[in-house]
Amino acid sequence: MPLLEPGSPTDLIATTTAAFTERFGRPPRLVGRAPGRVNLIGEHTDYNRGLVLPVALPHATWVAVAPRADRQLRLSSAQQDALWTGTLDDLEPAAITGWAAYAAGVLWALREEGLEIPGLDLHVHSTVPLGAGLSSSAALECAVGVALVGLLGRSLEDTHDGVPLRDVLVRAGIRAETEVAGAPTGGMDQTVAVHARAGSALLIDFDDGARRHLDLDLEGRVLLVTDTRVSHELTDGGYAARRADCEAAASALGLDSLRRASLEDVEGLTDERVRRRARHIVTEIARVQRTVDALAQRAWSEVARCFLDSHTSMRDDFEISTDELDTAVSVAVEAGALAARMTGGGFGGSTVAIVPEERLSAVVRAIDAAFTQRSYAAPSHLVVQPGAGASVEAVDALGG
Ligand code: GLA
Repeated sequence: MPLLEPGSPTDLIATTTAAFTERFGRPPRLVGRAPGRVNLIGEHTDYNRGLVLPVALPHATWVAVAPRADRQLRLSSAQQDALWTGTLDDLEPAAITGWAAYAAGVLWALREEGLEIPGLDLHVHSTVPLGAGLSSSAALECAVGVALVGLLGRSLEDTHDGVPLRDVLVRAGIRAETEVAGAPTGGMDQTVAVHARAGSALLIDFDDGARRHLDLDLEGRVLLVTDTRVSHELTDGGYAARRADCEAAASALGLDSLRRASLEDVEGLTDERVRRRARHIVTEIARVQRTVDALAQRAWSEVARCFLDSHTSMRDDFEISTDELDTAVSVAVEAGALAARMTGGGFGGSTVAIVPEERLSAVVRAIDAAFTQRSYAAPSHLVVQPGAGASVEAVDALGG
């Protein structure tokens, strides 16, 4: 059964280091790493001050970096053809375009936060699938951020102006994404990329910023992520339109966010589309809480119901699913998955399923067969052991 493997950290550090050395003619000082994520439940709730429950993937982005004596910046990536070159003076939102928005964008945002950015060379290598709704962009932002923290000789446990550096990284990643790349996203991806712990899901409350690590024991079941290969873009308007509808709903109700709205409130909204969008948010926030309780009580049929209701709500009320996502979800459940739903921003991307280990290959085969039968692109599958958040790697091994 072909699965998209995360790769071994030792090999990935070696690969990234070798590519850096070949590209720039000297070894890097260190390597930073940050993971992609899959959200278990709580979609589009982050920018509505709601709840989300993501886990970090074992698949990650690796960034090798070394400082320069001058003000030059050279950014390369194994996943992108173009080398981005500039100087520290070019670190302005309007001057940074393409994939560099996420990398150079973070350098700009960290400088805005008051960190000293030196001239540097940087090389990126990622095993997070691109455009799959698995937060390759947040992985890149946070890997660049953590590499910079390492370069400055700081630890992720330090503070900067009284703020934990981890939170500075999260904020810088969000600013790169919203202000440089122009994707008006909500912050879940950067938060989990920086704060995740291995073996746990991260419950984040975007009302007060509270985070809770929840041990994820699925009792003999695994998390299966299926990338439908329908590439999704957060900058293409659909995401922003959903966000605008949510804001319109809150403002029609005289509330600062939909977190304060009840189901009864939203059912009273007169605009039919806005009402459905708001209903998704209010019911989805409640489903995150129900899922957290059900996972704690090992109430598996309740987890299954929450996933199914979440998918239906995203398909019918929020209208962000696709035929490929609907197919992957229904076929997974028919073939023995306990639960399945689309995950991430939508309009393509991936599904997440909870699958009894002994049904894993049957579920994968059934999805593949259904996609072939419908002439969809071949999907790819990842089995996810919840990974750890961003880290500085290999300083010693590289002699830095
Ligand atoms: C994208 C965004 C997140 C979140 C999800 C949907 O991943 O980056 O902020 O809104 O979509 O839950």
